[in-house]
Formats: sequence, C-alpha cells, structure tokens
Amino acid sequence: QPVYLSDYQPPAYRVTHTALTFDLDPARTCVEARLTVERHPDAEAGTPLYLHGEQLTLEAVSIDGEPLADDAYRQNDKGLTIDAVPAAFTLETRVRIAPEANTALEGLYQSNGMYCTQCEAEGFRRITFYPDRPDVMAVFRVTVIGDARREPVLLANGNPVERGELDGGRHFVTWEDPHPKPAYLFALVAGDLACVEDRFTTMSGRDVTLQIWVEEENLGKTDHAMASLKRAMRWDEERYGREYDLDRFMIVAVNDFNMGAMENKGLNIFNAAAVLTHPDTATDGAFQQVEGIVAHEYFHNWSGNRVTCRDWFQLSLKEGFTVFRDQSFTADSNSSALKRIQDVAFFRTAQFAEDAGPTAHPVRPESYIEITNFYTLTVYEKGAEVVRMLKNLVGWDAFRRGSDLYFERFDGQAVTIEDFVGCMAETSGQDLSQFMRWYQQAGTPEIDAHGEYDYVNAEYRLTLRQRTPATAGQQAPEPLHIPVRMGLIGTKSGHDLTLTLDGEKRGCDTVLHLREPEQTFVFTDVAEAPTPSLLRHFSAPVKLHFPYSREDLAFLLTQDSDGFNRWEASQRLAMLALNDLIAAHRNGVEKVMDSRVVDAYRTLLDAPAADKAVLAEMLRLPSEAYIAEHQPLVDVDAIHAAREFVRQSLGFALRDAFETLYRANQSDEPYAPTPEQIGRRSLKNVALGYLMAVEDEAGIALCQAQFDAGHNMTDVRQALTLLVHSGRDDLSAPALKAFGDKWAHDPLVMDQWFSLQVSRPQAEVLDRVKYLMAHPAFSLRNPNKVRALLGTFAQNRVNFHRLDGAGYTLLADAVIELDRLNPEMAAGLMTPLTRWRRFDDTRQSLMRAELERIKDRPLSANVFEMVSKALG
Ligand code: ARG
Ligand code: ZN
Repeated sequence: QPVYLSDYQPPAYRVTHTALTFDLDPARTCVEARLTVERHPDAEAGTPLYLHGEQLTLEAVSIDGEPLADDAYRQNDKGLTIDAVPAAFTLETRVRIAPEANTALEGLYQSNGMYCTQCEAEGFRRITFYPDRPDVMAVFRVTVIGDARREPVLLANGNPVERGELDGGRHFVTWEDPHPKPAYLFALVAGDLACVEDRFTTMSGRDVTLQIWVEEENLGKTDHAMASLKRAMRWDEERYGREYDLDRFMIVAVNDFNMGAMENKGLNIFNAAAVLTHPDTATDGAFQQVEGIVAHEYFHNWSGNRVTCRDWFQLSLKEGFTVFRDQSFTADSNSSALKRIQDVAFFRTAQFAEDAGPTAHPVRPESYIEITNFYTLTVYEKGAEVVRMLKNLVGWDAFRRGSDLYFERFDGQAVTIEDFVGCMAETSGQDLSQFMRWYQQAGTPEIDAHGEYDYVNAEYRLTLRQRTPATAGQQAPEPLHIPVRMGLIGTKSGHDLTLTLDGEKRGCDTVLHLREPEQTFVFTDVAEAPTPSLLRHFSAPVKLHFPYSREDLAFLLTQDSDGFNRWEASQRLAMLALNDLIAAHRNGVEKVMDSRVVDAYRTLLDAPAADKAVLAEMLRLPSEAYIAEHQPLVDVDAIHAAREFVRQSLGFALRDAFETLYRANQSDEPYAPTPEQIGRRSLKNVALGYLMAVEDEAGIALCQAQFDAGHNMTDVRQALTLLVHSGRDDLSAPALKAFGDKWAHDPLVMDQWFSLQVSRPQAEVLDRVKYLMAHPAFSLRNPNKVRALLGTFAQNRVNFHRLDGAGYTLLADAVIELDRLNPEMAAGLMTPLTRWRRFDDTRQSLMRAELERIKDRPLSANVFEMVSKALG
C-alpha cells in the first residue's frame, strides 16, 4: 500500500524530549524510553496517539507513571495506538529487541560482535515505539549499558555527560545531544573499538575533538579519512559559512552496512569500505571515494541535520544539496575537470538507465511503497544536478545568500523543497516556478539541436528543441527551464568567438535559457563559420543531440577551451566509431576501424597534456553500459565485440605511443593520493590497458612486472585485472592465487579479489560466481560481499545476459534468498533484472520469467515494490 505525498498531515503529537536507556544483550536488549509528548496546538483533543514500532516485544507502557490498562491501547505489526491521552504527558515504554537476529541491518544490530545502528529512513521503529517521522524533532538523552570487557566503548550522539560502573561487570555512559533531531539521526555504537583522535578549531574558535573509531587492526588506515574530514570542515566554513556545533565529531567504521555511510548527529557511522584506506590496500579511486563520503556525511550536519526534511518525499532536499556540496568540495581540492568528467560519466550511464526504466521517478517522488527503495541515483545524483543548475541560473552570489537564508530561516526545522528553492528565488529575484518541474517530472529530457551559419549576415542560428519522454507517472511532461552553457569556436582560427545575442555582448561562454519546446538563438557579428561547443560542463542532465561530423569532433577534441567538452568530444567520436562497428557486427560484415578516430587519438597522444587525469579519461573508451544507453535495443554481444575491436585496433595502431606514455609516467616515489600522482597513475594504467589489448609478450611482461612490483593497490589491482581479464589462465591463475593468499585476512581487499574475477568477459564466469559464493570469505550477510560478487556479476554484460538465461536464474535465486535476510539489499540487487524491456525478445522472456518466479514468493515490501514496477 503506497504512501502519497499529497496525503501529508502534520504530526498530531510532538516529542520534545526523548530519554532512552539501552541495556545491551545480543538476544534480548532492553530499551526503556521516556518521551515528553505534547499535542500539537492545531490537533483536536481526543486524537489518538500513534507510535511506530516493528519487531518489538512490548513489556510495559505507562502514561505519567500510570501503567496502561490492556484495553487502553492497540498494537499491530506496524505500531501502537493509544486512544486517550492528555494534551501534555510523559510516555514510558519498555521493549526487548534481538540485535544478533537483525540481518536486515536496520535498527540496532551486531556486526563482528559490535553493536551499531542504522535508522534512516525508518529503522528507529525497530528500536522503540516512537513517532518515527522526520518532522518530529526532540532533544535526546541516551544511556548505554554494556559489558565492561566486551563493550568497553559505549557511544551515542552528542556529548558524554556521565559514566560509571555497575554490578556484574557492567558499565554505562550517558550522552546528551542538545540539538533537537528526528529519530532517523539517532545512533548508538558499542564494542571493543580503538580510536584515532585529532582536533579542529572552528572559525569562531570552538575546539572540536575528532575521533575515528575502528577495530584495533585498522588503526593504520584512518589517516586519509581524518585529513579529509578536517579539509571538509574548513571548506564548509569558507564556502558556505557553516561551522560545526558540538564539542566532538565521531566516525565509526562498521563491516556490515547497507550503504556508504550515515550522518547521525555527531556520530557518523560508516561502511568500513567508505572510511579505511591504505596505499597497499586501497586504490586511488577508493581514496577519492573516502574523501567524498567523509565530506558528504560531514556536510549533512547542516544540510540534513540542522535543517531536515518534512517527510521522506523531500529526501532530495538534503541529499541532492549535500551531493552537490560534496562534489564541489572534491572539485576544489582536486582536478575539477576530472571530478566533473567522472561524475557525468557515471551519471549518464546509471541515472539515465534508471530514468528510462520501470522504476523511473521524479527527483521528488509522489508515492512509494518502501522508502528505502528511493535512495536512488535520481534522488541523489539528479537531485545534485538540479541544485547545480539552480546555482548556475541564479549565480554563486545569490545562491550563497539563498543558502544562508535557508539555514537561518529554517534552522531546527523540518522543511520542503519549496522552502529551499523559495530562498533561492528570494535572494536572486528570479521566477523559479517553471524550474520546479525538474523536481516533479521523471525521465531524461532530450534536446535536438542544429545550427546554421549565414555568411552574408555573419549570423549563427542555433535551434534547440526539447522533449521529455512520457513515464508511468507522467503522460504529458511539460517543457523545462534548461540552462544550456555554450560557446562558438571559429573553425578556421580555432579560437573562441565573442558571442553577441540580441545585441548584447556575452563574452566567449554563455548560458542560454531554454524554456519553450523550441527556441532559436541568433548570434550576430559571427566573423567566421563556427563549431558550437554545447552543454559545457554538462550544464543540464539531458541528452543532447547535435549532428557533429567526425571532423567537428576531432576539432573540438583539441580546440575546445572547455576541458569537459574536449572529453565529451572524445566520447562522441568513439561512439560514432562504435556505432558503425556494432552495426557491422550485427550484419555480419567485416569490422574496419575508422582511421579518422585513430588519427584523433594519435593527436591526443602527441600533444603534451596539461591535466594527465583528464587525458586518461579522454583515452578511456565509453563503457559497455554507456554504449548500451545509446542503443534503442541493447545488443550485449555486438557492443562487447565492437568495443574490444576498438580497444585492440587502437592498441595495435598506437602501440609505441602507449608504451612511451606508460614509461614516461612510471615513478617510484612514495605513494600519496595527490592529484598529480593520481593523474600519472591513471594515464599509465590506461596505457597499460591498451598494451595488454595487443596481447603481445612485451605488454604482458610490463603488466606482470607491475603486478610483481606491488608498489600500491592502484597499480597492483590494474595489473591483476588485466591479467585476469586477458583470458590467459597461465597468467591469471597464479596471480589470483598469490593475491588471494596475501590478502585473505583483509575483507576489503577480498572484496576487490571477488569482483575482479567475476567481471571478466570469459564464459566460465557463471561457474566462478557459484564457486565463489561457497568461498569461506564470502557471506550473503555482508553487503559488501554481495555487491562485490553478485552486484559485479550482474554488471558483467556478456555473462549476466547469457543466452541460456543462467545468469538471470542465478541472480533471481540470490534475490529470493537474500530477501529473507536483508530486504533492502535484495531489492537493490535485482535492479538489473528490472531493465528487461531494453533487450531482445529471447532475453526479455528469460528475464521476465525470473521476475515472475520472484513475484510468486512471499516477499518483503522492498522486493515486492521493485518486482511489481518491473512487471507493471
Ligand atoms: N543519508 C545517508 C547518506 O546519504 C544514506 C542513508 C541511506 N539509508 C538507506 N536506508 N539506504 O549519507
Ligand atoms: Zn547523504
């Protein structure tokens, strides 16, 4: 039964103070709650009090000290209703819960023996009876009682105010969080943990203790997270004027965690993979991810915690804004062009696919069955794109003033997306009503563009036509307000031309406001025929079509002043070649590599690159998943064959240049995750990939040497991946074994070991997956393992989509089994199956059959929602 945004009602009762006592026990933790409750002034006397509560054993309930009679309340599997309550009162309950039996990892659970919590979105109701909704905000006081030996460390939100010894080897700590917060930001951690401590002085001089809590053996893996945290804290002060507001800030690393991390007030809980790094165990990519996630969770302290969401439909209010903030932070501290390229490459593959599938939804959904299914790329990443457009439309100054206004006006409140956009409208004076449609309409808008140069009048006419596809929830989407950033480059001179629009000079780079279904922009005083550079920096989350020729793209590849669009030209050029080869493969015609594309790559390799990381991205071919997004019907085999053909052709044609590049970027300086080093490693490893595509002994020797040298995980993993994916078992087997033996003790490295084996294109991968599922290091209960093995396999295009359907069956079996343990993970894992409409008839019916098989089982709400949408 879906919940609708339009049904929102403010809470009839508020909780102002929440006092909790946890007496920890794996099988029967006792939770006592004392809530100070007030009826909302607008609510009628006699309105029943409703408290959420699931999987709780209720032992006692009283109001103002009086135990309730049995007929004074009603309980079902969702919650508790008390019919008659005063206007203001104290409610006390006592419940029992079983953390050790909690495999869903929502609420209070155990991971490697330690206790931890995950409450967003609706996990708190598995801890105690409570109005578990974000618009109920209370001040929390929490006492945690545990075994002094097994749980020497007892943590909760805020500041510790009292601690002491108890009988029977037990002890307690009491924590107070002075900032009112919704229940989803509650956190508790207890266990045998060690901590690394640092300090930070805020801009107003507040001294903050920073702690990262980990299992003893991980103490050497926290440096990068701590450094990232301090940089993020400073950045938020400098860019947004936001200061930290408690005396301590804690991060805890947990092995079993459904997602990346969680911004609980003052006590962020992290998936170990999102916080621990070491040059020997984590790749450059992992270092960058840790930096981004640490910053993301920290930034939530304002965008999320101080100002939170009125209801879960507003999720993007905090997530879109916070992702935008963490993206900007990373762009500022590293190569900003690289950051944008990486984000856009990912976005256009994964979010576009979501937006084109049966689970497509607007950035602000209008209904849901299970909110955990809505922590999506659309809410997060498209939400961030929408905030980015807003910033670009109103300009940074008005945006920053709007942000200040938002934090000031709504501090301590639970608000809506309208409240946020309203602040931006107010400080900029702009009408953003059409812009709001970005939050309301699902589907990826497409822009068809074409241009004409008129020599006689020195005019360039650019016509943009927009359309948004109809989706399940929206039959007739309306035109959006789309910022199209662009420039014109003189085809002869190679220079950016000054833009004159409606008689106004706009410099060499401008933002067009597309509001109508179709608009023509006439540029005057255009002295020479131009090549347009459109949608610079991916100024809007749309698909842009422009009839670029290969010559145009080869030109933009080197001449565009916008680094992002130089990369974009490389991708478009590769796509043109790939599309021809896909067609050739399908028609059984001999494949021929387009020499113009080879020439363009040669030019790139010959010119010295300012930004090595960006050059590496330009040399990287679009992924199979990205290519698939551009096909009306996905032909996995043709895509794979075409892409391999291009890789090999480039490798053969440019072998010497790649080897030179490889050698020029080798270095044995000590590892540091600096932009310079990352760029160099990235370039070197792309070159190694092409050298391995040639399949000659010289390339293999370089790769083997890089693996054996073992300088850092970035280099080792790339070498190992190439050896394993080469299809040469004489190379792959010994390397895999050596790596697996060396790192058997490190679960995060074993995750990488699992995933690189099942992403190879060779046909025996399915058996390998089955074999690895029985490996002692694998467990269906650990989300990281599920993602590494099964999630990666489902992204292995050729093997998951085997024509015998065995890949689909394997995934469906896993979904069914996992659903009994962890519904959130099960629902996430089945995503690739929901995309069945994109494939040929044979695969469609195989995928549908598996979906039907899942549907016939007793299911969680999570999987039920996914499967019904997929088949719907
Ligand atoms: N708010 C967290 C973050 O983005 C994620 C919480 C996800 N919750 C969930 N049930 N998946 O930082
Ligand atoms: Zn977040």
